[in-house]
Amino acid sequence: MEVSYIIDPAKASDLNAILEVMRPWNMHHVPSPEMEALDTSCFFVARVDGRVIGASGFKILSQTVGKTTLLGVLPEYAKLGIGGALQNARLQAMGRLGVKTVVTNADRPETIVWYKRHYGYKEVGRLQKLRSFGHPDIYHWTTMEMDLEAYMRAADEKAWTRDHVARNEPHPLAPYPPFLINVCLTGMIPTKDKTEFVPVTVEEVVEDAIRVCDAGAQIVHIHARDESGKPTWEASIYERIIAGIRRERPGLVCCVSTSGRNWPEFERRSECLLITGDGKPDMGSLTLGSLNFPTGPSVNAPDMIKRLAETMRDNGIRPELEVFDPGMIGFAKYLERKGSIVGRKYFNLLLGSLGGVAASIGDLSSLVASLPEDSVWAAAGIGMFQLPMNVAAVVAGGGVRVGLEDSIFYDSGRTRLSTNEDVVKRIVRVAEECGRPLATLEEARWMVGVEERLPGIDALVRDANVLRSPAQRRWPEAPGAN
Ligand SMILES: CC(C)(COP(=O)(O)OP(=O)(O)OC[C@H]1O[C@@H](n2cnc3c(N)ncnc32)[C@H](O)[C@@H]1OP(=O)(O)O)[C@@H](O)C(=O)NCCC(=O)NCCS
Repeated sequence: MEVSYIIDPAKASDLNAILEVMRPWNMHHVPSPEMEALDTSCFFVARVDGRVIGASGFKILSQTVGKTTLLGVLPEYAKLGIGGALQNARLQAMGRLGVKTVVTNADRPETIVWYKRHYGYKEVGRLQKLRSFGHPDIYHWTTMEMDLEAYMRAADEKAWTRDHVARNEPHPLAPYPPFLINVCLTGMIPTKDKTEFVPVTVEEVVEDAIRVCDAGAQIVHIHARDESGKPTWEASIYERIIAGIRRERPGLVCCVSTSGRNWPEFERRSECLLITGDGKPDMGSLTLGSLNFPTGPSVNAPDMIKRLAETMRDNGIRPELEVFDPGMIGFAKYLERKGSIVGRKYFNLLLGSLGGVAASIGDLSSLVASLPEDSVWAAAGIGMFQLPMNVAAVVAGGGVRVGLEDSIFYDSGRTRLSTNEDVVKRIVRVAEECGRPLATLEEARWMVGVEERLPGIDALVRDANVLRSPAQRRWPEAPGAN
């Protein structure tokens, strides 16, 4: 259910409406030995179409200690974030008034858990109830305290970081963006003869996608194989793989290959871009030029690239822009100028392939420096360069592509066969050590342009702006003890 609500400072005339909101929770006995008369100037209300459907209050106990008074949301509006917004409003108000520690009494076990989980409260004691108030079968209050200063610092920091993410400002002018991991699960080359770990059947690819997602990856780059294990363009296989992944991990970004290495025709290369329904891909690979691989050429004529790009554009599929040499970035800029690619651009920079750009820090830096504006990038190293290029990308502020398509070995000495999960877990460890938080699936979908809006960003930025704004409210008179 989507509900449009606003959080407002309460007016004196809201008093009865506030008590009506508390009635379903048996918290309307006011004034009573449990709750003194309300000071509506220390209350916030949530309104839907003008009607008060939630309220929260506070009072100031000393210069640094505040206490929450009532908080309630009508049951039919539960779990929509309204309780959280009301709690935030009163925390911010207390913070602006100089409060450092907030005391809260609660009785319902689920509410106590909610306060602890979202606001970092700790239990400090218990109080006997003086009359029936709140949950009728619970006879005491659990008293909790939270460190408001620490909470505000953390909220401010989080919103500040996300603010940069929303604007896609490049590191180091901004904090590192959330870390993206794209896994090329299968590729065209690895076979079961070479490694038993390469996922080939629909079931194997789906299972591997689930494993790498759970290990931290947000994007999978998918190649289809036929019954005999040979690469195929057939859309029906891609469709089964993607629908299978979506059933288990709906947020994982699914990118299909439009590679022309084994079949040059546009119709075959683009067949997987025409899938609709549950198996529709989020992204399609778009190699931005021709090159030689050790086993033969990969031919991508300008007109073919343009047609593939426009088919993606027209079907709502984002391109995964594959770059094997600097000229390919120039071709992406040309496509953008022609309108064949639009919006946020996700580049995969693939270094270390014989015939492509070398896997060195200098080459990586120069590729990144020449990317067009509003780009997000990942680096991949082919063969023994996988780990070095991935680590370089972690430090340089990019994302990575890892997986068996790029290297079937875990180590540069080629002594140990890898699984896709192994290399994801390894780069997650490196990223954690380097202070690169993993992008959530939602963030990843937004960063690569699959979703247009970053969930939660508006509220975070708004909260941060409120937290940073100077004190606006008067210092309320210290109310009597409760
Ligand atoms: C406690 C109370 C105010 C919470 O109100 P609420 O509007 O349901 O609170 P929220 O929606 O912000 O959060 C509730 C849960 O919904 C989740 N949620 C928030 N927005 C959501 C959304 N759009 N979709 C799904 N879940 C959502 C929250 O993450 C939270 O999850 P959790 O329970 O796993 O922690 C409400 O349950 C209440 O009135 N309780 C009775 C009175 C009471 O105990 N008051 C406190 C006295 S001290």
